[in-house]
Amino acid sequence: MSSEKIVTTDCFSSKGRALCGKLEIAGALPGEEVLIAPAGKKKGFLRQVIKPSTDRTQPRCSHVPDCGGCSLQHLEYTAQLKLKTQIVEKEFGQPAQRILACADPWRYRNKMEFSFSQDKAGEKFLGLILAGSRGRVANITECHLVSEWFSDVISKVREWWKAVPQLHAYRHGSNEGHLRTLTLREAKQGKGKMVMLTVSGNPDFALKRAWLNSFIDTIKDENVSIFLQVQQIAKGRPTQFFEMLLSGPDHITEMLQIEVCGVTHRMEFKISPTSFFQPNTAQAQLLYGAALQSLSNLSGARVFDLYCGGATIGLSAAKYAKEVVGIELNHHSVFDAGWNQEVNGIKNFTIHRGDVGQVLERLRQDPEFQLSDIVIVDPPRAGLDEKALGHLKEFGARQILYISCNPKTQAENVRVLCEMGYRIKLLQPVDQFPHTIHIENICLLER
Ligand SMILES: C[S@@+](CC[C@H](N)C(=O)[O-])C[C@H]1O[C@@H](n2cnc3c(N)ncnc32)[C@H](O)[C@@H]1O
Repeated sequence: MSSEKIVTTDCFSSKGRALCGKLEIAGALPGEEVLIAPAGKKKGFLRQVIKPSTDRTQPRCSHVPDCGGCSLQHLEYTAQLKLKTQIVEKEFGQPAQRILACADPWRYRNKMEFSFSQDKAGEKFLGLILAGSRGRVANITECHLVSEWFSDVISKVREWWKAVPQLHAYRHGSNEGHLRTLTLREAKQGKGKMVMLTVSGNPDFALKRAWLNSFIDTIKDENVSIFLQVQQIAKGRPTQFFEMLLSGPDHITEMLQIEVCGVTHRMEFKISPTSFFQPNTAQAQLLYGAALQSLSNLSGARVFDLYCGGATIGLSAAKYAKEVVGIELNHHSVFDAGWNQEVNGIKNFTIHRGDVGQVLERLRQDPEFQLSDIVIVDPPRAGLDEKALGHLKEFGARQILYISCNPKTQAENVRVLCEMGYRIKLLQPVDQFPHTIHIENICLLER
């Protein structure tokens, strides 16, 4: 094709794609000579690598480069680590500690969500969203980020779906169809596996009992927790979710060994179907260990653990602190935190359910309210909102430990906190997501 051209790439974009001037080329690496077909003003499609980079490696998965799950499998793992450290350093404009690498960068995920989709001809797909597509799904047959049990379950569920011609994939535009997503979870060091089928809440597309029975039979394991989740959407109202246990135990449990200053704590955590848990169990241990170790004077301190989930980090901190107060929005996580507290024999932890900004506002009206010495924050990707930032300003905590899976919003929030009188004491990236561009980062701030 005449519009094809040969270019040499120069550096990585923040999304981990090679840049040639302003042109982003997915699948290419810096310093490579590549044949591309221009696709709009800012993108080039990689046709052929003519002179490969020494950092290039053969991807393990046959779905690369089509699958949107892994965008860095063609990059040597050590070069992935270098890239992620550089991205953190660029966001914060200062050096970071050496990134904590995975001992084994394969089959590390304990959770993955797959999507149901159908094309115009009605062909059925269950898998991951295709890279650069608007929601088109690839029929995944292998995934090296999860254990083989995941591929086994999705192929069985795909067959189950094909055997029921009346069952259709949910379509966003029309609010028609039945099946939305299939979420699989498994404990890596604890006990249990979980399957959650998410379906439409549109009553015209309710699932028949016989279909659900055959779905349970498809999984064929009474030790697996099988949930049905109904996703109810209504114009002008927040989306609601309802979960029902179809078969097996109502939760799984994970074990973490968290080492702080040479002492290892073994702790057990309950995970309910919608509760957050760090997706890489092995790296969660390193993340929490490094985070707690960075806090000076944790012993005897009053600590707030905001966006605490099942209180994994808060309960670990409670082993040292005088008192830990957690705040979390998801009611399943709050229940899990209570179970985790009891099972791990922690007495100095309390949790409040609700939005961080609103709960803090309420707590601060209590005449007995005491400010904390240390605040741990681990918000969703969007980062802290103005209300939460405002409270942090008023708190004036000695240290803020900010954990994030999005260094971009984290750096934006940290700039605001620095204007309030904090300075960065430590930047510690942790590689929780090998072969993807996602980065986990710890930022310790001191007043
Ligand atoms: C990234 S997770 C961190 C959880 C926990 N720190 C951990 O390591 O497992 C973020 C948590 O924030 C919760 N969350 C999201 N928005 C919130 C809000 N506005 N107020 C309180 N919690 C919120 C989510 O339910 C989730 O459990």
